[in-house]
Amino acid sequence: MNEATNNELKPTSNKKNGYISKIAGPVVQANNMQGSKMYDVVRVGNEGLIGEIIGLEGDTCTIQVYEETAGVVPGEKVELIGEPLSVELGPGIVGMIYDGIQRPLEVIMKETGDFIERGVRTPGLDHSAKWHFKPTVKEGDKVKSCDMLGTVQETKAVEHRIIMPHGMEGTVSKIVPDGEYTIDDQIVTIQTSTGTKELTMVQHWPVRIGRPFLKKLDPNIPLITGQRIYDTFFPITKGGTGAIPGGFGTGKTVTQHQLAKWCDADIIVYVGCGERGNEMTDVLREFPVLEDPRTGEPLMKRTILIANTSNMPVAAREASVYTGITIAEYFRDQGYDVALMADSTSRWAEALREISGRLEEMPGEEGYPAYLASRLAEFYERAGRVLVDCSEKRFGSITVVGAVSPPGGDFSEPVTQNTLRIVKVFWALDADLADKRHFPSINWLRSYSLYMDNVKDWWHDKIGSDWYNMRGRAMRLLQQEAELQEIIQLVGPDALPPKEQITLEGAKMIRENFLQQNAFHEVDTYCPDNKQYEMLRIMLRYYDLILEISGKGVTIDDIRTIKTRERIARMATISNKTYKSEFKKLEQNLEHELNELPGGA
Ligand SMILES: Nc1ncnc2c1ncn2[C@@H]1O[C@H](COP(=O)(O)OP(=O)(O)O)[C@@H](O)[C@H]1O
Ligand SMILES: [Mg+2]
Repeated sequence: MNEATNNELKPTSNKKNGYISKIAGPVVQANNMQGSKMYDVVRVGNEGLIGEIIGLEGDTCTIQVYEETAGVVPGEKVELIGEPLSVELGPGIVGMIYDGIQRPLEVIMKETGDFIERGVRTPGLDHSAKWHFKPTVKEGDKVKSCDMLGTVQETKAVEHRIIMPHGMEGTVSKIVPDGEYTIDDQIVTIQTSTGTKELTMVQHWPVRIGRPFLKKLDPNIPLITGQRIYDTFFPITKGGTGAIPGGFGTGKTVTQHQLAKWCDADIIVYVGCGERGNEMTDVLREFPVLEDPRTGEPLMKRTILIANTSNMPVAAREASVYTGITIAEYFRDQGYDVALMADSTSRWAEALREISGRLEEMPGEEGYPAYLASRLAEFYERAGRVLVDCSEKRFGSITVVGAVSPPGGDFSEPVTQNTLRIVKVFWALDADLADKRHFPSINWLRSYSLYMDNVKDWWHDKIGSDWYNMRGRAMRLLQQEAELQEIIQLVGPDALPPKEQITLEGAKMIRENFLQQNAFHEVDTYCPDNKQYEMLRIMLRYYDLILEISGKGVTIDDIRTIKTRERIARMATISNKTYKSEFKKLEQNLEHELNELPGGA
């Protein structure tokens, strides 16, 4: 990407106008559009609705419009802006709530009342706010792409690093002193081989182009989510990709919210794409008051929300995921771990389908365009843990988790299938589990993570050397339980031999009390990594001990009478602050009680 996409990128002054020749919903055709380029922004009609050129033939453009086009008629003007759809990046972005094309929802609502008026032109950042800028370079320093120029403590949780624009290289010839500046104030002058560049704290970047990096690295660090079934059974990594497909009401949104709240990323970008407005309202209500367990600060102070609800225009949905991932890349380039949640990618794919239909393109499977697979791949490709394109050795990552809403919960449909070919983690939601109120209703037999080997060393070094082995044993117990279920259907549980009854008891303990996790319970909502390990260790120890004494003739009915059994089942709700000592006592009681059973010693 060249320098022109950065600070000096402003709409061209010699605007040219064409006119509308045809309108089909969000798709508009315009004639007399000399000088147009693909993906350039245009202002459509007398109200100046924001659109993007998605097709070009001679002087005729096909435009997708990000706002409602009702009432717009052929003959109205179309104005060329002469720049691609871009986001504004700089201090003031954290904690913002945007629509799909980075217009701050609060600002446009304030200006126009409760609903968004058409053609509103609002910058993504507040240009009048002052920020405390601390320079980190001095005159004479050589700087290039993404090198740090200074910092702004944007929120208590986020130090915004002011970095060089991509592709620019030179020597600092002037830098302002420590002080208060707006994002439009010139803070540094760079002498490049071609001349002098004045830089401010703001950058622009076209959303459809990924920001470059030096190298993609193996994603070997888990993204800890505080959700047991993800972290311990189907882990995702910093820089990894995952999908949560599930039918209506199976828990996609609750899962995405849980990840956004508790995962150990530095920055969260949450894209609410085409879902009901009240789900976004939940986020808006909760995030400003919920505390980040790592910083003690409100979660909103590390979060950027992009809200594109079902009542908003369909084309803006298409843009919203690009807006989100571009913001994520900007923070990755600062050296942060970013997590992006998109709920739901199916609504995005449906937007592609609708636009494609209006364009009368040849439909592919189930009416989706033939390029559905490549669009999905391009999006998830922008995830990853990377070596940033700068002078120092700086790492950053973007983890992407997409919810998928297959109609009727049928995973064989194109969006689910194409997504599963790309992502490395599959969290399969299951309507039967949701009906039984088993939450998170992730099917442990269908789900998988291809990162098990990547994260193994981290768990072994940081938490416990038996992690991989324990996880494997727990998984086998659950598989055995599933196999035994078939026999139970035929003969009932009591007919099983004692050893199999112990298997069922061990599996039940893990299924009901480890895999299940209540998102709405004050303590259980977040389970630290070490607590997960200890819980599983004690549950497996329980299984080993009861297997041993059952071999000596202790019956399963006797085992079920011990008090500690109930306490193991409730380990998840023991305070995250005091669990270590309580777990120790519990383990001692367990051995004691089992030994006391007739025949147990
Ligand atoms: N982890 C969880 N803990 C407790 N309840 C949950 C959990 N996940 C889902 N639920 C329940 O399921 C309901 C539907 O979940 P939701 O995420 O809205 O489904 P979807 O987005 O898939 O349509 C929630 O309102 C909640 O009652
Ligand atoms: Mg939902």
